[in-house]
Amino acid sequence: MPRMQTIKNKSMLRAAIQRWKSVDEIVAYVPTMGNLHEGHLRLVDMARQHASKVVVSIFVNPAQFAAGEDIDSYPRTLEQDSALLAERGADLLFAPDAAEVYDSKPEAQTRVEVPGLSTILCGKSRPTHFVGVTTVVAKLFNIVQPHLAVFGEKDFQQLFLIKKMVKDLDFPIKILGAETVREASGLALSSRNSYLSVAQREHAARLFQSLQQTAARIIEGERDYQKLEENAIKMLENDGIEVEYVSIRRNDDLHLADAGTTELVILAAVKLGKARLIDNIRVDLSGTIKQL
Ligand code: PAF
Repeated sequence: MPRMQTIKNKSMLRAAIQRWKSVDEIVAYVPTMGNLHEGHLRLVDMARQHASKVVVSIFVNPAQFAAGEDIDSYPRTLEQDSALLAERGADLLFAPDAAEVYDSKPEAQTRVEVPGLSTILCGKSRPTHFVGVTTVVAKLFNIVQPHLAVFGEKDFQQLFLIKKMVKDLDFPIKILGAETVREASGLALSSRNSYLSVAQREHAARLFQSLQQTAARIIEGERDYQKLEENAIKMLENDGIEVEYVSIRRNDDLHLADAGTTELVILAAVKLGKARLIDNIRVDLSGTIKQL
């Protein structure tokens, strides 16, 4: 099996990718912040299905953490991640340090912002987060210049913003979303699950259960979405889970859903112990409505 290369420097990375492109290799890219779990590795699998070369980056991006958030405690497990990626068949790991990505402080640099959609949902409590994400992803896209890139659907708003950024800025990169990977309990895999104790991890499954129950009520015909959101929040709070939001939105533009919306997504963010957890579930009513 060919060995995975690890590169920390962007000009060396560009040269390696140039060599591949000169012999018509198709390059897929999976950007991550490391502490890889099965969810990330499925992104690598999906990348592999669409390309002949798979590049993964590990970069804990300071620009997407606000003061007081968990950048210092964010789990960093480069050696273990590197072994997992090599085993999964990635071709190249790009693991730059902050000075390689940002020549000066991120706040002094040009930013990329998707207006409006960066400040709703998770952007309400984390107003600088998505600008940090879209800026670093734009920079990484310019460094790697892949044919396609794969992101997880767990971060639904992030995936949505990246697709819009790519369209608005004409990046010649195809964006693919990969299904959320869950524990048997339903809890979505996330690097931040490592902040949970064993008991909290079990408890955290209530988040996805509340989304499933809300989705079931919609499928049964309930269209009072505000009431459904309130019920889900109450259920989670009664379970001792601090709720940031539960919101029923249109899948195609993330605007609030109404009774006529056929493709919906229910998104939620909660706090449990030291972990902020997000999740979502999609509901497709097009078949149901056509049958009525
Ligand atoms: O989803 C993540 O891990 C990060 O937000 C990303 C896309 C790698 C940008 O830093």
